Amino acid sequence: MIKFNRITKVFEHVGIDKVIALNSIDIHIKQSEFVVVIGTNGSGKSSFLNAIAGKFICDSGEIILDDKDVTKKPEYRRADIVGRVFQNPFTGTSPSLSVIENLRIAELRGQRRGLTNGLTKHHRDNYLKLLNKLEMGLEHRIDATVGLLSGGQRQAITLLMATMRKPKILLLDEHTAALDPKAAEQIVKLTRKVVAENQLTTVMVTHSMSQALDLGNRTIMMHEGRIIGDLFGEERERTKTQDLLNIFNELRKNELLDDNLINLIQDEYY
Ligand SMILES: Nc1ncnc2c1ncn2[C@@H]1O[C@H](COP(=O)(O)OP(=O)(O)O)[C@@H](O)[C@H]1O
Ligand SMILES: [Mg+2]
Repeated sequence: MIKFNRITKVFEHVGIDKVIALNSIDIHIKQSEFVVVIGTNGSGKSSFLNAIAGKFICDSGEIILDDKDVTKKPEYRRADIVGRVFQNPFTGTSPSLSVIENLRIAELRGQRRGLTNGLTKHHRDNYLKLLNKLEMGLEHRIDATVGLLSGGQRQAITLLMATMRKPKILLLDEHTAALDPKAAEQIVKLTRKVVAENQLTTVMVTHSMSQALDLGNRTIMMHEGRIIGDLFGEERERTKTQDLLNIFNELRKNELLDDNLINLIQDEYY
């Protein structure tokens, strides 16, 4: 479903050395796999998702999505197969529009012009059903302006918008990191549900060690643009949160890591 063959992406920074954000990455993610990605700050996690989404074209290597070579395809030509949710609850939705208007826009995205853009009772009923399934009371807020909703409510709507057209691939970039613990927990629960219901091939970046092992069925560890660990099956089941922390502590001991580069937390609330 997602195949990287020796993918490399280098960023040039004025005045400092260039950064190898992705360093010859090889990976194969199978259909319906739910992969959780952890790693230190700047290790290339977001770049990994950006490479899948086509936010930039990579310097070398090959990317195959859904059996198609998309290596040179720009973002808009992959949009029909990729849905995304970012960390900031403010990026996924239009704050001045209502919930129903945001949902309609998401549904129309990528469709040919000339289709009816209006909002009929049919749309409203359909969206009410979808909102109801979120179990966050949002069916009562369908006409509310999105800007008035909480961060958790907005992330729930963004998740719905990213998946309502049933993308082949769902990309989640620390999508619970900006939320308070209770809202984060709700979004985690919702993520499990949406992914399972739609059998989505999912790649989720998190800084939460417990999410890294509790969610999904595979855990990838990144460091300096490389994949330094790949856990699945029995080995993953045996792995404890502390084992993951130990690996990153080891890197720090070897002075490969600066203290303040560590952005991984062992959540107490989760
Ligand atoms: N658009 C960009 N322009 C320049 N440098 C970038 C860009 N995106 C990422 N980088 C650099 O690439 C490295 C990896 O970044 P990123 O993938 O965002 O890391 P992570 O998500 O793991 O924190 C960092 O050193 C970052 O500064
Ligand atoms: Mg990132």
